[in-house]
Amino acid sequence: MEAFLIEGGIKLKGSINISGAKNAALPLMASSILAPGVHTFKNIPNLRDVKTMAILLSHLGAKSDFGETLTISTDEIRADDAPYEVVKTMRASVLVMGPLVARLGHARISLPGGCAIGARPIDLHLKALSSMGAEVNLHNGLAEVKAKKLRASHIIFEKVTVTGTENIMMAAVLADGKTILENVAREPEVVDLANYLNEMGARIEGAGTNRIEIEGVKSLKPSVHTVIPDRIEAATFMIAAAITGGEIIINNAPIKYLKTFLSHLKESGVSVRMEDKGFKVKGTEKLSSVDVITAPYPGFATDIQAQFMALMTIADGISIIKETIFENRFMHVPELNRLGANIKIDGSMAIVKGCKKLRGAPVQATDLRASASLVLAGLAAEGITKVSRIYHLERGYEKLDEKLSTLGAKILRIPDKLP
Ligand code: EPU
Repeated sequence: MEAFLIEGGIKLKGSINISGAKNAALPLMASSILAPGVHTFKNIPNLRDVKTMAILLSHLGAKSDFGETLTISTDEIRADDAPYEVVKTMRASVLVMGPLVARLGHARISLPGGCAIGARPIDLHLKALSSMGAEVNLHNGLAEVKAKKLRASHIIFEKVTVTGTENIMMAAVLADGKTILENVAREPEVVDLANYLNEMGARIEGAGTNRIEIEGVKSLKPSVHTVIPDRIEAATFMIAAAITGGEIIINNAPIKYLKTFLSHLKESGVSVRMEDKGFKVKGTEKLSSVDVITAPYPGFATDIQAQFMALMTIADGISIIKETIFENRFMHVPELNRLGANIKIDGSMAIVKGCKKLRGAPVQATDLRASASLVLAGLAAEGITKVSRIYHLERGYEKLDEKLSTLGAKILRIPDKLP
């Protein structure tokens, strides 16, 4: 096990590149099941979740090769199951369900169960597949889905679900007839997946709006695709600049995906502007508190809530942060309080009263984005902060410590004795 030792209080300076988006890479990799042959993905981030997806694909019979690009060969898909050992370490494993049913006519997916941030059922994925003619059986912790040939359906999702939209979009590309999906997720990662499916020969319209139409085709052909940059990583680095009162340039920031976040960041007094070299973020001496309500895209992303809360701990005044997507996404609050923050939780609301200074302490990471918020707080805190269980960070941030170091942060990776 490893931990980060962070000496806080250093203003970050310099420029960085943002990696490919984890939440785009994972469904893209799963989509390779749909078309036999060799798929090529550029700008794939080097992350633990990406490796886990490659392990799952290899269990199914595919061969992944990580070089400058990732190639996945899917000529042979032998197995139809996502085993519990894989699903429990990465819920996005459920993304192979739609493609497996479309390609093989059957899939057996271990039910993910609850996770650190909430219950996160997959009932809406299963309900949609069943309305496309699949037989769905739940037994022994498994979802068993069978359909000789999926047929088109008109599906209105009860809740906006990102991987649900992606799973059903992948299931529908090879179905008979025209599938209509309503109240779908509009996330840029959904659009990136639709773009790749269309590059393979699918006929999808409307991705990025709340209604997607998919005209089923007979077959798809592998193609070459570049993964979009990670908007959550970009937002995390922007907050790193803001929280340390520093000034950084992000060379390839996906600004168009970050409008709501940027309007909140600007409202807090942080200066953000496009320059020749890239997107410049400059902290302010006088940070103001801003309220946040998380919402599906294009709203304020739940995946940036914890990091923005870290920023608000040192803002002037009181910030109310309401989490509407996941029921347990405040695990970072007691840890931020250990660093001297003043945050109270009231149901789905966190009331953050800004303090003058955070002070270093040992803290423990609980999930990916919570970990990022603790690193950010550590960068701002006076003295030394030790963040344990950083393996959570490795799921979704490529070389976070190295990138922060190039911006001048004092961050060390050390062995940690914690269980
Ligand atoms: N939900 C249901 N039933 C379903 C599916 C979802 O009730 O069948 C509920 C969930 O419990 C949640 C809400 O709907 O309350 C939205 O969940 P969603 O399905 O959109 O989440 P997800 O697809 O499992 C993806 C991202 C998450 C991100 C959420 C929300 C990937 C691989 N994961 O999860 O990313 O937080 O959308 O934007 O795309 C992260 O990267 O740290 C992360 C957790």
